[in-house]
Amino acid sequence: MRPIVEFAGVTRIYGSRVALDDVHLELLPGELTFLVGPSGAGKTTLLKLINRELRPTSGRLWVAGLAAHTLKASRVAELRRRVGVVFQDYKLLPRLTALENVAFGLQAGDLRVSDEEARDRSQDALDAVGLGDRGDAFPHQLSGGQQQRVAVARAVVAQPPLLIADEPTGNLDQETAWEMMDLFEDIAAWGTSVLVATHNVAIVTRLQRRVLTLVHGRLVRDQPAGRTGRMAWLASS
Ligand SMILES: Nc1ncnc2c1ncn2[C@@H]1O[C@H](COP(=O)(O)OP(=O)(O)OP(=O)(O)O)[C@@H](O)[C@H]1O
Ligand SMILES: [Mg+2]
Repeated sequence: MRPIVEFAGVTRIYGSRVALDDVHLELLPGELTFLVGPSGAGKTTLLKLINRELRPTSGRLWVAGLAAHTLKASRVAELRRRVGVVFQDYKLLPRLTALENVAFGLQAGDLRVSDEEARDRSQDALDAVGLGDRGDAFPHQLSGGQQQRVAVARAVVAQPPLLIADEPTGNLDQETAWEMMDLFEDIAAWGTSVLVATHNVAIVTRLQRRVLTLVHGRLVRDQPAGRTGRMAWLASS
């Protein structure tokens, strides 16, 4: 199976601060992977490199078949169409309904999608996240967990091979966080590679998925799915 993401000796330096240090990793299709580590370890930096919000200082990385380290600015949109993104604070547009938020994401990524097709596909995506009957609601009329579901629908509506999420349950209570993780497991089961940066120890420990641990920018541990050990970063946080 070809990896969806591949990092080969990736280093990212901000000024004189080394945020990521010689990281090597591969993510496979259909895999749900957690990215953990203390605050400042480099999790967000790693995700931003995948989405080409940042470029590596050195090293090479490939995302969904594209060489992100050499990608021309004119092809960044092509890369972003292949990467769904979910943030801690949902980032929905407040004046658009749930359905319009999802459709807007689809049409912004691909101008060839007609309004009718965007509406149909967005409705399907809302159905898939369990919000098929709330498409007309505005974000402020939805709970935090529901808003995050809309954000997930927006991230997957174009059926990208990769979904990245930065602290997606950071603003949710634990029960809602579990529901969100069920959703990520479903998305991975559909064949998407899902990478979730999180501080939610209970979830990471219980789900027994693959866990990547960053400490001071170094990938100190890559624990395969199905094995739970003592989480190295707890000792250092
Ligand atoms: N734009 C920036 N300019 C300078 N330093 C930065 C910048 N962004 C991040 N850093 C530094 O890079 C390091 C990694 O930060 P990053 O945001 O990737 O950590 P993180 O693991 O996501 O932390 P958290 O769990 O708090 O979100 C930190 O030392 C941080 O201060
Ligand atoms: Mg972060």
